[in-house]
Amino acid sequence: MHKVFIKTFGCQMNEYDSGRMAGVLAATKNYLLTTSEEDAEFIIVNTCSVREHAENREYSYIGRHIKDKKIIVAGCMAQNLKEEIVQSFPKVFAVVGTFNFANIDAIIGKKQKQKLFVNEAPDSYNIEPARSDKYRAYVTIMQGCNNFCAYCIVPYVRGRERSRTEKSIINELKTAAENGYKEVMLLGQNVNSYGLDNGCSFTKLLCDVEKINGIERIRFMTSHPKDLTEALIETVAGSEKLCKHFHLPAQAGSDKILKAMNRKYTRSEYLNKVLNIRKKIPNVSVTTDILVGFPGETKEDFKDTVSLMKAAGFDNSYVFKYSKRSGTKAAEMAETVSEKEKGERVNYILDLQKKISGDINKTYEGKTVEVLFTRENGKFAEGETDNFKHVKVAEGKGLLGSILPVKITSARSLTLTGEVQK
Ligand code: SAH
Ligand code: SF4
Ligand code: F3S
Repeated sequence: MHKVFIKTFGCQMNEYDSGRMAGVLAATKNYLLTTSEEDAEFIIVNTCSVREHAENREYSYIGRHIKDKKIIVAGCMAQNLKEEIVQSFPKVFAVVGTFNFANIDAIIGKKQKQKLFVNEAPDSYNIEPARSDKYRAYVTIMQGCNNFCAYCIVPYVRGRERSRTEKSIINELKTAAENGYKEVMLLGQNVNSYGLDNGCSFTKLLCDVEKINGIERIRFMTSHPKDLTEALIETVAGSEKLCKHFHLPAQAGSDKILKAMNRKYTRSEYLNKVLNIRKKIPNVSVTTDILVGFPGETKEDFKDTVSLMKAAGFDNSYVFKYSKRSGTKAAEMAETVSEKEKGERVNYILDLQKKISGDINKTYEGKTVEVLFTRENGKFAEGETDNFKHVKVAEGKGLLGSILPVKITSARSLTLTGEVQK
């Protein structure tokens, strides 16, 4: 048995793909997945390319292990840099792009010669993934992106939008439910595009997922604001199982910057969608991604982002400094915002978000919410509400995997603390 360690960088889709590779390797009975790097003969590094910072970390991780281990670089950076990785690390065992996860067993079993595997092979979801998360099952429903936001590498590394068949998704979810998962997270670069290429639709898929016995909570990520429909909002509003949470990346608040980013919506269209969601779905939470320092973003443009944040009142936001990605449209634009200024803008947004989240979370004090417990941390058990608030309780032994009512006793910007109601 060859021992394999899988190191995952990047988003939840990468977590899912690592699970798929683990599933494929385990099914061959030639490989044993290990949780210890030192122990492993092979290390598969599943990489992300979304920002330079991610690629730098991955390069140094590979550099640390290349001497002693057979390294397979997989995923988005592998797809992005291809030969560059082979040149930087001549000792690398293989470089495997985002289209070759399903035949990772054939690649790892090779006797070397060819190192680069980035061909567009037909993707296969035939093998049950080995999941690393015990209480929330991540399931990819579509991959790829047709949107080509000017800053973003994802369409280049994940290819065009491809939906999985509904049957294959439902079968995987039924197995997850039989294995005790109560919560599922449906993943796609743009879940709203699900079904455009196979005659299904995202709302139909959601309605069918709802019928699966045992699944109590359904999440999805990410919705592109331009494609978020009234029908989807109504489906979530009318459902017991669909979680009351939308992650709706705004990126910026200035129309000029949104246009330059090729986001295909205006500030007011975006804001109207958020307000509509809040009107139709009580207790919904809306979170976002913000990108600061896009080429040409002036102080005035940044103020528009700040005012959008105030108007939308996001429950939480993830803020990123613009990072130039070769090959994208924005890489041809002159960078106008210094690293220092980007840092200041990020900090400004973080402070503002802390205040907004704190104010929203205060309204939870004294209320009772339902929490699915997913983590233990010392004497605390932690988990999430349906609308994705993080909750922790003391004396939390034995709660993992249960959904229980919790009375909130105190609230901070990132966490609600409470007591389980007996
Ligand atoms: N498909 C999702 C986002 C995927 S990437 C969507 O359209 O919303 C996740 C986040 O990374 C993006 O929302 C964006 O804020 C950030 N991001 C993408 N490219 C980036 C870049 N070049 N520099 C910095 N952040 C970036
Ligand atoms: Fe990137 Fe835009 Fe596609 Fe999201 S929608 S993956 S930000 S190109
Ligand atoms: Fe995800 Fe990073 Fe690839 S965000 S899709 S792992 S570029």
